[in-house]
Amino acid sequence: MRSLIDILDLTIEEIDELMHVGCDIINNPWKYSEMCRGKKLATCFFEPSTRTRLSFEAAMLELGGSVLGFSEASTSSAAKGESIADTARVMSCYADIIAMRHPKEGAPYVAARNATVPVINGGDGGHCHPTQTLTDLLTIYREKGHFDNITVGFCGDLKFGRTVHSLIHALSRYENVKVILISPEELSIPQYIKQEIAFDYEETTSLEDAMPKLDVLYMTRIQRERFDSLEEYERLKDSYILTTDKLESAKEDMCILHPLPRVNEISVAVDSDPRAKYFEQALNGKYVRMALILKLLEEAKKPGNSALENDDKYITGEHICKNPRCISSCEQELPHTFKKTESGAYRCVYCETKA
Ligand code: NCD
Repeated sequence: MRSLIDILDLTIEEIDELMHVGCDIINNPWKYSEMCRGKKLATCFFEPSTRTRLSFEAAMLELGGSVLGFSEASTSSAAKGESIADTARVMSCYADIIAMRHPKEGAPYVAARNATVPVINGGDGGHCHPTQTLTDLLTIYREKGHFDNITVGFCGDLKFGRTVHSLIHALSRYENVKVILISPEELSIPQYIKQEIAFDYEETTSLEDAMPKLDVLYMTRIQRERFDSLEEYERLKDSYILTTDKLESAKEDMCILHPLPRVNEISVAVDSDPRAKYFEQALNGKYVRMALILKLLEEAKKPGNSALENDDKYITGEHICKNPRCISSCEQELPHTFKKTESGAYRCVYCETKA
């Protein structure tokens, strides 16, 4: 069964197709309004969400389908100790497609392995968030018309910001993309992502120095819920605040993105600057999720089409994943499984931590 767990599960051609369908939905919404009549989307959200869950639900409703689900772990049987594998099997009995968010990294992967309907990762811990990336890409596409030849600055919590990890992976497949990573040293991008950045990148702690070079500025929230120490969060929380005066040195056509929610990192006064695109971005999230639901429901009709069932690079039982946020640390009888990467290293299949 074809699912979307990581943005790299989609080819560049498939991403292009999703962008085109997303734009067509924007221009001709009536064409799509009955396409999912009789179909059900389940949103299984074990972590707070406003945009991701509700844009999935709005997307399915605008396609003529219906929605069911839960928005916190405490109202599902997870509170009684049910495993992700069992939850996924059961939800497959009630819905045609599942969108899942979970604090444990790799939980949607486990769900996809056990569900009999497509599973979409709506964010797993500090790991990845592929549908936010589709949202970001559609916004960049609508603003710039292409993904090649752009300089993107990522600012804030690059360590725990899962949206950053997925967008960097996506951009790494385009020509002449440059990335500037702007963060305090304590919140710099994880090593495993740095190793995979196939393009030119710079690291800095100064937003002011990076600003004039950027075509896209991607601001992020400091991810309080992922810190081990609240003191450390308090010390780092206001590391970057984008204000109107800081924008004076920016290009006139730079676009400011933010996956939202913002806490304090973009001053409200910036909202009226024409370069601020984060609310349009939230709207694009609905359109691109409509395109994605249509694609995965179409793929589900094909027999044996699976992005997850190619097993020859996997080893089980030789290493234990050391990441306490990995789903393998708590899921019942889940074998610790590692996958050989191109560099020869073994990484956990759930959370990508090195063996
Ligand atoms: C992001 C997330 O959940 O990772 N929000 C979203 O999905 N739009 C970003 C965040 O929470 O900071």
